[in-house]
Amino acid sequence: MIVVTGATGNVGRELVNALVAAGERVTAVSRNSAEVPDGALHHRADLNDPVSLRPALDGAEAIFLLVAGDDPHAILKEAAGVKRVVLLSSQGAGTRPEVYRHPAMFEQAVRESGLDFTILRPGGFDSNAFAWAESIRTTRTAAAPFGDVGLPTIDPADIAEVAAVVLRESGHAGRTYELTGPALTTPRERVAAIGEALGEPVRFVAQTREEARAQMLQVMPEPVVEGTLAILGEPTAAELAVSPDVELVLGRAPRTFAHWAARNLPAFR
Ligand SMILES: NC(=O)c1ccc[n+]([C@@H]2O[C@H](COP(=O)([O-])OP(=O)(O)OC[C@H]3O[C@@H](n4cnc5c(N)ncnc54)[C@H](OP(=O)(O)O)[C@@H]3O)[C@@H](O)[C@H]2O)c1
Repeated sequence: MIVVTGATGNVGRELVNALVAAGERVTAVSRNSAEVPDGALHHRADLNDPVSLRPALDGAEAIFLLVAGDDPHAILKEAAGVKRVVLLSSQGAGTRPEVYRHPAMFEQAVRESGLDFTILRPGGFDSNAFAWAESIRTTRTAAAPFGDVGLPTIDPADIAEVAAVVLRESGHAGRTYELTGPALTTPRERVAAIGEALGEPVRFVAQTREEARAQMLQVMPEPVVEGTLAILGEPTAAELAVSPDVELVLGRAPRTFAHWAARNLPAFR
């Protein structure tokens, strides 16, 4: 049995599907009830309340762990019987640990857990473009700051495929994989790619840093907003680098943003 936390999210949903397709028994965990594919069970639990995970972890072989809740040691204590833990961390834990303290704290706890662990550090997700879905649907516009700064965003389905491999196969213990897409794309180019997939132009609206900050503060804590704005506006060499790790694990290049947009068109129609 493999336990997948964050099972209804952009990564988790794809991961549950991939594991079930590979013939694994899966327990999908999220706080809210959810439909899961045949072959998977759903368990409601909150990572803020590690004991709530106990029934799902009883007899489990591996856990895919999301960074959520404030006590990774208590979560990992509940997971003490598993053979393998795969942590969905964040690129920022490596490039800006003073800002991304939460994923950095989870990484340290996983390293200290005594379990076989693999850490996944993705950069920005292609699915962050869902933030444009409503304005693209209603006005064929999309607003973002730093329109001409490229980053190698990653398809969450590729993160899920990597996770499925490292959860099922040995040989990845102790490794940290930096996960990016295949090339740098700018926000302006991503908006154009959605327009191309739609067959209709979508207008890019340049946001100021202040406008973007105000919007992000509604959904993120202040230090993370500042860190995210710095990555989007003034990425470091490490944040600009296209990583070989998706190809190393999957034996194929990561998918492009255009591929993600084409698969997710209904959200933008
Ligand atoms: N977006 C990015 O650019 C980016 C970059 C690097 C790393 N990451 C990391 O990747 C993670 C996953 O991203 P995603 O896009 O797949 O997330 P998402 O679509 O927002 O989904 C989050 C999932 O986690 C569950 N969840 C949230 N809080 C929980 C809690 N306290 N206990 C149990 N389940 C909880 C949610 O379901 P319920 O709400 O029902 O619980 C949902 O299944 C992020 O949380 C972040 O740490 C993201």
